[in-house]
Amino acid sequence: MKALVAYYSETGNTKKVAEAIYEEIQWEKDIKQFAEIDNVNDCDLIFVGFPMQAFAPAQAAKDFLENQCKNRKVALFTTHAVSEDFEKLPRWIENCREAAAGSEVAGIFNCQGEVADYLLEMMISSDDAESRILGEAGATSKGQPDASRIERARTFAKEMTA
Ligand SMILES: Cc1cc2nc3c(=O)[nH]c(=O)nc-3n(C[C@H](O)[C@H](O)[C@H](O)COP(=O)(O)O)c2cc1C
Repeated sequence: MKALVAYYSETGNTKKVAEAIYEEIQWEKDIKQFAEIDNVNDCDLIFVGFPMQAFAPAQAAKDFLENQCKNRKVALFTTHAVSEDFEKLPRWIENCREAAAGSEVAGIFNCQGEVADYLLEMMISSDDAESRILGEAGATSKGQPDASRIERARTFAKEMTA
């Protein structure tokens, strides 16, 4: 069996999760950023990781899912500014599932990831109420993903490849 960990990460949070998942896989395996991937033909399972952006997968992940993962088995993982109990998060996770509608989704992992300071300031001072709420929620994200979240990601990798 072969797994590929494919991801996109702007500030390193999703990359940390990707590397933890990769370490835990006991199959033949590879880890690459989306931009480095030509095809996924020989993979039995593709872990697809991305930051949540604008309440949905980052565009690079939507494109990768659409162009490379049709009819393939995928396990999604995402990091986001808000804490895991944020009330709108289930809807955003549903947006991730919809972005992978052409694939067989084996599971979804999500956890909080630290928001870059410049972005937090932009969100908090925005005219848009939804952005301000996101900024306030994201203010709790310092240091994430922490060790306990990385451990949850490892468990996810084990479950997906069991
Ligand atoms: C343009 C942009 C939009 C974002 N939108 C959201 C969002 O809708 N919800 C959220 O919880 N976090 C949002 N974030 C925060 C990131 O998802 C979060 O910090 C993530 O952990 C970044 O991952 P990375 O370091 O792998 O890039 C946004 C970040 C950016 C840059």
